[in-house]
Amino acid sequence: MRTDYAIGIHDLSFSTTSLVLSHAELSRHNGTDLAKYHVGIGQRAMSVPTLDEDIVTMAAAAAAPVVERHGTDRVRTLVLATETAVDQSKAAGIYVHSLLGFHPNVRVVEVKQACYGATAGLQFATALVHRDPGQQVLVIASDVSRYDLDSPGEATQGAAATALLVSANPALVEIDRPSGLFTSDVMDFWRPNYRSTALVNGKESIAAYLEAVDGAWRDYSAQGGLPLKDFRAFCYHQPYTRMAFKAHRQLLETCGEAPDDAAVEHAVAATTGYNETVGNSYTASMYLALAALLEGEDDLTGESVGLFSYGSGRVAEFFAGHVRPGYREHLRGDAHRAAVDRRRPVDYPAYRELREQTLPTDGRWHDLPHQTQGPFRLAGIRDHQRVYEAA
Ligand code: HMG
Repeated sequence: MRTDYAIGIHDLSFSTTSLVLSHAELSRHNGTDLAKYHVGIGQRAMSVPTLDEDIVTMAAAAAAPVVERHGTDRVRTLVLATETAVDQSKAAGIYVHSLLGFHPNVRVVEVKQACYGATAGLQFATALVHRDPGQQVLVIASDVSRYDLDSPGEATQGAAATALLVSANPALVEIDRPSGLFTSDVMDFWRPNYRSTALVNGKESIAAYLEAVDGAWRDYSAQGGLPLKDFRAFCYHQPYTRMAFKAHRQLLETCGEAPDDAAVEHAVAATTGYNETVGNSYTASMYLALAALLEGEDDLTGESVGLFSYGSGRVAEFFAGHVRPGYREHLRGDAHRAAVDRRRPVDYPAYRELREQTLPTDGRWHDLPHQTQGPFRLAGIRDHQRVYEAA
């Protein structure tokens, strides 16, 4: 079922960090067989932030090209989804609002539910645009994922931000109704306020994710969603890229289809290109999968794409996007590939040193070294306040 008039993603841009740690380098440090990383979990590298990069600098860098192309006049809401917030009270989006020169007549809010948050933001945005088709909503997802050093999760770390401009008559993807929803209280992955790294029950988290695929799809079907055969491809949340293949096998099983390798490959392979080199970017991950798919070789005009968003803890949503005619003219593939390619490789000792550096908490003035090659930076901490600037 389609909306009365099209509402969806008008522009999609992403950014990542200045540094990259390869899995080849990680495996040299910990002795893990590289095939486990490249084949077993499907990861080749992870984005690593410099000390002056965080969710705000990545968010502003992702959104800046969108603002440059479309201006800010029609944007009346800015939603920033993250699970690696920099403040317990202030919304990180307010820094982005300031860095990008938004007018004051905007509501800015932060949304959290693990990796699912950006999809909640997208759905809220479509409702706002439905109420007033003249307005646009900027939905940003930005996260830095961190696990304990030398833990199994370490190989799935990453960092990125995506910016989605949501509007009526979108240039890229119409967001269709209905959605399939699935929520239940599980402790598969969480991060208490006193920790900077996530805690995870690894194997349980995979089972929890797969149950959510089953549950969200069943609800989607019960709400009158499209049949499986109508979808050309599926963008799954990718904590590591092999998870998308597991997820699609689960979906085929739920639908009573044989989990044939070629069918799984056809549905998912074109969505993993960015995530395999960026790592888990939590809220941004599924939208990096969408960017990879749209920027790929196949012409998807008029096709339906399945989107499965998962946030540990857990909330999941399955919904469909309908690819708009002419979408290819509005993509940002060159800029995205350049952002990934220009990251500077770090060796394991340099990565470890960065992990050990923490921001000062003593309330005195501290200027930070200029390390980022991105357009915005965290310049310092002064009187417990984060100070951002154009780099
Ligand atoms: P692990 O114990 O390091 O790995 O944990 P493993 O031994 O299970 O191996 C992983 C795969 O590599 C297996 O394949 C092995 O067979 C294979 P599978 O059985 O899964 O098909 N393998 C090899 N393949 C080729 N050559 C080899 C080789 N050796 C092994 N030599 C785990 C892996 C994912 C659990 C760990 O990395 C972890 O804890 N990650 C973090 C949690 C996570 O990503 N969970 C995913 C679902 S939860 C989610 O998506 C939400 C999340 O994004 C957070 C949020 O919502 O906010 C995490």
